[in-house]
Parts: sequence; structure tokens; C-alpha cells
Amino acid sequence: MKSKIELIQGDITRLDVDAIVNAANRSLLGGGGVDGAIHRAAGPHLLDECRTLGGCETGDAKITGGHNLKARHVIHTVGPIYRGGTSGEPRLLESCYRRCFEIAGENGLKSIAFPSISTGAYGYPIEDASKIALGTSLAQLERFPGIERVVFALFSEKDLQIYRKNLASL
Ligand code: APR
Repeated sequence: MKSKIELIQGDITRLDVDAIVNAANRSLLGGGGVDGAIHRAAGPHLLDECRTLGGCETGDAKITGGHNLKARHVIHTVGPIYRGGTSGEPRLLESCYRRCFEIAGENGLKSIAFPSISTGAYGYPIEDASKIALGTSLAQLERFPGIERVVFALFSEKDLQIYRKNLASL
């Protein structure tokens, strides 16, 4: 299963996959970081579609079209805001990844790309977050054999190295 996971450094909005995952907020009405980049690249009709979804709870995810992106879909998920790690953050972050896989499986998607959810504005330490991201992804690939390719699009060399180290130790 590890062979299905790819780690790259780059802009997730450029990827030609069935779905890219957006690290959104509960309104699903856009924001900064990767959320802002995805909305800019997808164009204004993504926001029009997001407006019909009625928001999203932390730890959950919802799917839209990709609009002007190369990706056919965007799966919007809301990561936990890190508050020290004892307010359920690990469980909620794991839930984000699991729900994205469930939605990808339900929609028959074969490839999905993730940013490093919650490790930017939401302050989740990337060392712990990457272990949850990779461990959950490996477990979900067992559940959903139809998913053939999981890409983690890291935005910095440092983040890429952390993910590389933690994938190797799984
Ligand atoms: N491609 C890939 N990764 C990116 C990109 C991009 N174009 N832009 C930013 N990132 C990385 C950041 O460097 C970070 O490692 O995505 C990771 C997640 O950071 P944020 O985008 O800040 O997301 P998060 O920490 O989950 O905070 C979500 O920020 O943008 C708002 O609306 C969003 O309120 C929500 C909050």
C-alpha cells in the first residue's frame, strides 16, 4: 500500500488528479492558504457551488466539482484548530483524512491529493500531523482498493522531508 503514496513539493492546484483536498474552514466560503489558492485557481463558480453546501463540521468533508482546476473534484475538509493536542485534535484530524477517503471511494475516484491539513493557519505541529495523515491514509487504502494513487502536495522542502521521514518509518 505504501507504493500508492507519493510525496511531492508543489502547488496542489496544479495536480491532474480525480480530486484535490482543500483545507477549508467550517463556512466553506474560502479563506487564505491552500483554501485561497484553490478558489483562485478554480474560479468563482467553485464558491457558488460551496454556497449550496451549508458549511461543513470540523472532521467532516464535502465534495464539489473542480471547475477550472485540472482536478475533476475538490473535496473540502475542515481540520481541527490545534489547541495543545488534548481537545480531540488527533481524532478530528484522523477523521478529516478518513472522510476524504470515504467520499473518494463513494464516488469511485482513483486518485486523490492532500495538502498538509491543519499545519498552517490552524497551527497543528507537522511532526504529529504527518504521522496521522500517513497512518490514516495507509489504513484507508486497505478499505478502498479502488484508490490507486494518493499524493501529498507539501508546500515546503522542510515539510516534504518530515513526511518522507515519517512515511519511511511506517
Ligand atoms: N498547495 C499545497 N499546499 C499549500 C498551498 C498550495 N497551493 N498553499 C498553502 N499550502 C500549505 C501550507 O503551507 C500548509 O502546510 O497547506 C498547509 C495547510 O495550511 P493552511 O492552508 O493554512 O490550512 P490550515 O492550517 O488547515 O488552516 C485552515 O486557513 O486558509 C484558511 O480558510 C482556511 O480557515 C481555514 C484555515
